[in-house]
Amino acid sequence: MSQTVSAPAKIILLGEHAVVYGQPSLAVPLSALRAYAEIVHLPQNSGLRITAIDLDNQEFTVNSHSTESDQPLVSAALLLLNDLGCTTLPDANIILRSDIPIASGMGSGAAITTALFRALILLLGKEVSDSHLNDLVYEVEKMHHGTPSGVDNTVIVFEKPIYFMRGKPIERIKIDKPFTLLVADTGIGASTKIAVADVRTLYNSNMIFITRILDSIGELVVVGQQAIENGDYVNLGHTMNENHNLLQKLTVSSPLLDKLVDIARGSGALGAKLSGGGRGGNMIALVSEESAPYIKEQLLDAGAIQVYQTVVKE
Ligand code: PMV
Repeated sequence: MSQTVSAPAKIILLGEHAVVYGQPSLAVPLSALRAYAEIVHLPQNSGLRITAIDLDNQEFTVNSHSTESDQPLVSAALLLLNDLGCTTLPDANIILRSDIPIASGMGSGAAITTALFRALILLLGKEVSDSHLNDLVYEVEKMHHGTPSGVDNTVIVFEKPIYFMRGKPIERIKIDKPFTLLVADTGIGASTKIAVADVRTLYNSNMIFITRILDSIGELVVVGQQAIENGDYVNLGHTMNENHNLLQKLTVSSPLLDKLVDIARGSGALGAKLSGGGRGGNMIALVSEESAPYIKEQLLDAGAIQVYQTVVKE
């Protein structure tokens, strides 16, 4: 008999780019899009294996005598096993698969690591708090991304919306009523690094004007958080619209993102904006559950290659 554990994707709801300059941001889990780890028990002395379906079904063996590996999944597993002081490995195959698009600002790496760790913890019969799991997933994020903000692992491990400001402890936010988001993938890969660097150039060339925009984004995040806490989704939609307008001024939107935003709003969304680094990647729209199928259809007609629907709750 096999068991499966999972972890969600994440997306930035408000505040991208300005967060780099010390403004707050909000990020939420996308519970409908997940990474999964299936545990298949093996006969005694078979050892521990990890199979990555999305890496052409490659199978990796975890060797209990090593402390590191060139294979990222194996080195992640070793980090957890060492942390838990585990010397004998379970006989099992952990089969990993993910619905989360890679390199699209949805935290696919952190979700895969979280699912893998949950499977190992279950196999070993250990008790590990989410807070400790979060620290371990963050360690793996650092192995891959240098100095990540910690947003991805926190949203994904706790599967809760968060309020985040650089250098401050990450705070959970309360949700009065669940809300529905559509996430439309433009299918256009764009470098967050270049977009962030371009905003920096803009900032250096006109500090007063850009600082005003960044401050306004920060203010919208605070208003958006209050709107979520009060269940005021008309106001949340309004802050998303305003945030998109300001991101356009930072030059990080694109014709397709703008088109998808217009289509979403014109089809009945309460608010819509680009999400993440911009220039490509994803557009998000706040919608009612009833209007979601129609808006989704319109977004696909307008050129989105995929539209995901998810409910954000506490
Ligand atoms: O799309 P993501 O989740 O990788 O977010 C990028 C967010 C930026 O604010 C544009 C960059 C950053 O490091 O915060």
